[in-house]
Amino acid sequence: MCGIVGYIGNREAYPIIINGLKRLEYRGYDSAGFVLNYPENFELVKTKGKVSELEEKAKASKLTANVGMGHTRWATHGEPNDCNSHPHMSNNGELVLVHNGIIENYESIKIKLKELGFTFQSDTDTEVLVNLVQYFQDKENANLCDAVRYALNEVVGAFAIAVMNNRNTDEIVVARLGSPLAIGIGEDEYFIASDASPFVEFTKDAIYLEDGEMACIRRGEKIDVRTIISNETVAPSVQELQFDLEQIEKGGYDHFMLKEIYEQPKSIHDTMRGRLLTDEGIIRMAGIWDHQERFNSAKRIIIVACGTSWHAGLVGEYLIEELARIPVEVEYASEFRYRNPIIKKNDIVIAISQSGETADTLAALKLAKEQGAFIYGICNVVGSSIARITDAGSYTHAGPEIGVASTKAFTAQLTILSLIALKLGKHNGNLSKARYHELCLELENIPKLVEETLKTNDAVVEIAKKFKDAENFLYLGRGYNFPTALEGALKLKEISYIHAEGYPAAEMKHGPIALIDENMPVVVIATKKGHYDKVVSNIQEIKSRKGKIIAIVTRGDSQVRELADYCIEIPDTAEEFTPIVASIPLQLLSYHIAVMRGANVDQPRNLAKSVTVE
Ligand code: AGP
Ligand code: GLU
Repeated sequence: MCGIVGYIGNREAYPIIINGLKRLEYRGYDSAGFVLNYPENFELVKTKGKVSELEEKAKASKLTANVGMGHTRWATHGEPNDCNSHPHMSNNGELVLVHNGIIENYESIKIKLKELGFTFQSDTDTEVLVNLVQYFQDKENANLCDAVRYALNEVVGAFAIAVMNNRNTDEIVVARLGSPLAIGIGEDEYFIASDASPFVEFTKDAIYLEDGEMACIRRGEKIDVRTIISNETVAPSVQELQFDLEQIEKGGYDHFMLKEIYEQPKSIHDTMRGRLLTDEGIIRMAGIWDHQERFNSAKRIIIVACGTSWHAGLVGEYLIEELARIPVEVEYASEFRYRNPIIKKNDIVIAISQSGETADTLAALKLAKEQGAFIYGICNVVGSSIARITDAGSYTHAGPEIGVASTKAFTAQLTILSLIALKLGKHNGNLSKARYHELCLELENIPKLVEETLKTNDAVVEIAKKFKDAENFLYLGRGYNFPTALEGALKLKEISYIHAEGYPAAEMKHGPIALIDENMPVVVIATKKGHYDKVVSNIQEIKSRKGKIIAIVTRGDSQVRELADYCIEIPDTAEEFTPIVASIPLQLLSYHIAVMRGANVDQPRNLAKSVTVE
């Protein structure tokens, strides 16, 4: 994780770096730092804590250089303190480096460098790397580009780095393996960043470095992209950015999370736009259409993902098995990649990832590809690593999601999975024409239903007031809404730090029921369609043990209303799509509870938006 930003050109670098760090802060916020490169010296400022604290600390500095770079950290090696913050400097004081990722063999390199007389101030793997570059620069009398390349050929792990040399203020060297790095190309200026958000207002042209590539970025020259292993020149492909500044700003909302929750009628519509053509009875998805045969002959679909995206995958399992009758397995990417899974040639492996950069998901996909599976990506970030390595895929088009807690990306993932399941079911004949048409119409209507569901906000605020001090929460659901319960619990715990667990409602009696007493709030998704009577029985069981019931019910429900302490009504839709609608009040509940508890909603502790380390 962590965010890297850099600039070389004719403007002052500092404002670009500090604003860029603020936009990248979702990637990590343990510490922040920057370095500016003047002909005579480096100006290096870094601090534990947020970018705002760095900004405060920087007030005492000159800040006029037009080349520099910055970093916002999610610590992997060494606690979050000033000293472990990036940028890190080499022993001779001539090199500075910022790093996103992990150098796995840093210990052994550190020992060798120590034997050669190098000393280390921090506990990071990164400080080892910058000194390794110095070592090669000295030993081979190499220029910065070559020294970086020699060093990177010695390291094992994942990295996106940017390096500067104080002997030359006209150059920044960058490289990537496993962690993302974008280069914005302006007129006589270059921008470097972990994603394009820091430079979107300056240029729409960007190069995304591929794994194993590095670039020497020199003032007034064309970018020189090479392979790290063999030093071969690569012709970079310039892509046009597909978002603008407005999309990455809060737009009047207190938090990105709230903005993103409210964007869902639009984002879900955007996910379906140009794909769901109800009048023509068509779902247009090139990724599926171009590989229809593979999907038709697939014996099995394996979905790999992490966190919220994994929850979307679980809903995907219900959808695809129900509508297309293709067996689906859903795996945590981190488990899948290390358990020697059985993958066959006619398996399809679908990765779901908002960021498209999650290290475990990426590695799971690479494994599946090596073993001959067809790999498909469902990503939100255009041009991300997963989107690039997959054989085919579908973007969710939810727009940039900045809040660390995923909201609109989740409902967009559910929408894509619904489209895929419908399309597959229609093509392999498992779905009747009538049912297909009916479900297409229901899906088309979902943005409107989500809009209506957002009106539950006031009711949710009242419930949040009542339960904001709870220490535990249970979330229960069945069928399609079992994953909804898991997702509701994850949302609450990650942003409010209240312990919460999601369970299939019927599993409660196999253990968790022991937890229920008058202090336990239990959120139950009890919509009319989908095991309603069974869920009502589960609610009775909770009530008998005096648990406090917060029920998500279908509009007009009376049976659950009599039993539950609080009810939130959502509009009726097909059972298959209830997770999309039912998620909305759960997102709002976690949001309001977190705000009332004074938690940092957009940047919860210990987390980062994009988990590019294992
Ligand atoms: C979501 O609220 C979480 N912050 C997290 O679980 C996230 O979904 C997970 O890290 C996967 O990320 P991805 O979708 O970008 O791969
Ligand atoms: N491994 C480095 C550190 O702990 C970089 C971590 C990151 O990607 O944020 O400082």
